[in-house]
Amino acid sequence: MTPLGLYVHVPFCAARCGYCDFNTYTAAELPDGGDRAGFAPAALCEIGHAAAALGAAVRPATTVFFGGGTPTLLPPEDLAAILEGIRQRFGLEDGAEVTTEANPESLNARALARLRAAGFTRVSIGMQHAAPHVLSVLDRVHTPGRAAEAVSDAHAAGFEHVSLDLIYGTPGERADDWALTLDTALAAAPDHVSAYGLEVEPGTALAARVRRGELPPPDGDAMADRQAEADAALSAAGLEWYEVANHAATPEARCRHNLGYWRSHDWWGIGPGAHSHVAGRRWWNVKHPSAYARRLAAGRSPAAGGEVLDPAARRFERIMLEVRLAEGLDLALLSPAGRRAAERLERDGALTLSTGRAVLTLRGRLTADAVVRDLTD
Ligand SMILES: C[S@@+](CC[C@H](N)C(=O)[O-])C[C@H]1O[C@@H](n2cnc3c(N)ncnc32)[C@H](O)[C@@H]1O
Ligand code: SF4
Repeated sequence: MTPLGLYVHVPFCAARCGYCDFNTYTAAELPDGGDRAGFAPAALCEIGHAAAALGAAVRPATTVFFGGGTPTLLPPEDLAAILEGIRQRFGLEDGAEVTTEANPESLNARALARLRAAGFTRVSIGMQHAAPHVLSVLDRVHTPGRAAEAVSDAHAAGFEHVSLDLIYGTPGERADDWALTLDTALAAAPDHVSAYGLEVEPGTALAARVRRGELPPPDGDAMADRQAEADAALSAAGLEWYEVANHAATPEARCRHNLGYWRSHDWWGIGPGAHSHVAGRRWWNVKHPSAYARRLAAGRSPAAGGEVLDPAARRFERIMLEVRLAEGLDLALLSPAGRRAAERLERDGALTLSTGRAVLTLRGRLTADAVVRDLTD
């Protein structure tokens, strides 16, 4: 049976970071400050609907991932109650991976101990950067040292698997700022690091600042340099890449939940705006937390729309996702033109094909989007 992941989207943040376009709301953006206390009951209600809708296909979850937003803005008891609901209605496989994302400033030793006791196995902390002037452009509210402290707090609470998210390429970031960030992150000894290039998302405060000329747009060459530096520093520290932006110290430290997305397994997304993919069908929930809560209170599904991908779209999606993995892409997925493009990319040093799979080299990882375009055109 295809492994099943459950994603729980917690759509609340204390403040909105200027670069972020995730479906998340501050208290000021929601009527009456947002009903955070009502979130867990609504999520539990959707979990009940989901288990009933799956019927005979309901099965223990291989992975559970609480993302956001900022899940750790909710009391740990609420996260524990939602996890307990999943355990009761779906079950958890032996050795299931249970992750929560966390912002450095909203994590403390008590919450971590409570989450560990409830069965969480992994924490993913948004560090983003170590240079104060870069954190300020990103509108981050934590001090540069707080993320590393949060990693030690998580280790002390018994979490073996702790990840840090980093962002490179922010306007004004110098090479030594990024080197300091990589050193600071590695000194905290996480067993997983995600390093993302800054995306200027339309509609964000960051995009408006770039449009007004207050900030320069991210520079493509500097981005490639930073990515190569991250790749070198992380692998020298024993964190090998397993997806273009993701590095782990051991195979067990890889994020199995995200691997489920990239391998097109099944997942059910709980919460406002959450996306699901089960048995070839995809759907998504209403985005606003009030609309989500109203639908569930009325006994209705929160799904807002859905689609079944045709074989061509599925093949395109699989190429796009699987070529980014270190395990590589099955060459059988490529059309004859895609196969010729792969052979050319191998001659250019962007891919290796020797194992019967297309695997990105460092050069290919630095130009992964262009490689995908060539393979799918
Ligand atoms: C869903 S966010 C939530 C994490 C958590 N709320 C936090 O900010 O610490 C997951 C990660 O996506 C990354 N991210 C969000 N927006 C991004 C953007 N515009 N460009 C690059 N990375 C981004 C950040 O590294 C962030 O930690
Ligand atoms: S980056 Fe994280 S804390 Fe900032 S607005 Fe997005 S989800 Fe919230």
